[in-house]
Amino acid sequence: MERHPIELSEETLSLEREYIAKVYNSPDKPNSYYIVTYGCQMNVHDSETLSGILKEMGLKEADDREHAEFVIFNTCCVRENAERRALGNVTWLKELKKTNKALRVAICGCMMQEPGMGEQILKQYPFVDLAFGTHNLYHFPSLFYQMIHTNRRVVEVIQNDEGCVPEGLPINRSSSFQSFVTIMYGCNNFCSYCIVPAVRGRERSRSSMRILKEAETLYKNGVKEITLLGQNVNSYGHDRDDELSFPNLLHELDKIGIERIRFMTSHPKDLSDELIEVMASGKHICPSFHLPVQHGNDRILKSMNRHYTREQYLERVSALRKAIPNISLTTDIIVGYPGETEEEFQDTCSLVRTVRYDSAFTFIYSPRIGTRAALMDGQIASEVASRRIQELISIQKQITTETLKARIGQIHSVLVDGISKRSEKLMTGKNEYNISVNFPGTSEMIGSILPIKITEAKETTLRGELYEE
Ligand code: SAH
Ligand code: SF4
Ligand code: F3S
Repeated sequence: MERHPIELSEETLSLEREYIAKVYNSPDKPNSYYIVTYGCQMNVHDSETLSGILKEMGLKEADDREHAEFVIFNTCCVRENAERRALGNVTWLKELKKTNKALRVAICGCMMQEPGMGEQILKQYPFVDLAFGTHNLYHFPSLFYQMIHTNRRVVEVIQNDEGCVPEGLPINRSSSFQSFVTIMYGCNNFCSYCIVPAVRGRERSRSSMRILKEAETLYKNGVKEITLLGQNVNSYGHDRDDELSFPNLLHELDKIGIERIRFMTSHPKDLSDELIEVMASGKHICPSFHLPVQHGNDRILKSMNRHYTREQYLERVSALRKAIPNISLTTDIIVGYPGETEEEFQDTCSLVRTVRYDSAFTFIYSPRIGTRAALMDGQIASEVASRRIQELISIQKQITTETLKARIGQIHSVLVDGISKRSEKLMTGKNEYNISVNFPGTSEMIGSILPIKITEAKETTLRGELYEE
């Protein structure tokens, strides 16, 4: 029998569609909504689905949460501070509810999948009207209907690691020229510190036929850039017998003609030569790669369950740079993992100096209940972790400055996505290396890809001017 994940059934989908229509026809539904999103692109994309459903139910998007009759928090629990921020903001709405009686509040996302969270919300946050998890996002129309037609609070969290692949839900994309395309859900890697596999379930790949169709439609609608999403995109298709591999999928997507293709995130252990070849020979695949290393010391990498050594990681970096010499590299790094000694931390610093990333996301280790690392001896004092992360940040800052300067004089292609926050006369966008570039221009340029000559390097961005031959 062929292995493949279960897609949302037609029956479920049509039932949920009926609820969308029922809410649409309910005179007592809220008029407007506002979505607050925390966490990674997965959540951003889930919020686009929620927004699509709410629009189809006849609600309008409010400009801010103060003016919305329905506010929904899409939460993240990857680190404790993400959680604290979300709960702090939910509590803040309690005050708003006193003056705005019509206001209804919902909470969803990864935090809701943590064991016992549903009950905790019911007990500690009595002003929350609706709560649901990541596995039943597709159920939102019927839950929303229940919320407006009963006086009860509605809480539904499904603890099902297998999950399903939701297809056919409405999406309200936040940009007309840049789109996310989910290629897989969940994660099977169980890095010792990480809660994502517990809250997002096992890896489930979407059918490549559906992915290609979605990309073709986006292309026909004038989309210039797609970003393929998954916790570990290189293992796309491993859970099914009927699918392309990630490099093959990328190759097929490249043929469609969309000007830019990006993807995230990749796990170093699954970064194959085949993928590097497809990237190097592809016409539309951007020369930028996010390759989280997490740590520079072998003992810690092993304890983290990352399945590669420092040397193997460095070898993959060399292979990437050899095939695509101008590639930009970014990473994620954890500082203060349990038992991390000063020498082990220095291994991370030396790895950063060796690779010379274009930029790095650095995090202080945060113990997550239910993960292996949370039970380990040698939890690091917060002063020590803070000092270490500061040291690492300053090393990377210096490297970022140098790598940005080295790009002065080059001509980059920039997908203009808006007006710069600094000045109305400056346009902003990302170049092919995923670095922000600002340049003098006008708002008619938004949505176009333009050649920009780089003239100056700022702290984390580039400055340039329109290049005319
Ligand atoms: N699937 C992606 C990203 C997962 S979450 C990957 O594997 O790279 C994004 C980043 O958060 C991770 O790369 C890691 O650096 C960080 N992270 C995850 N759990 C953490 C924890 N408990 N404490 C601190 N940082 C963490
Ligand atoms: Fe977490 Fe590791 Fe999965 Fe990334 S690969 S989501 S860090 S368990
Ligand atoms: Fe956070 Fe969930 Fe993403 S925990 S990082 S929003 S998958």
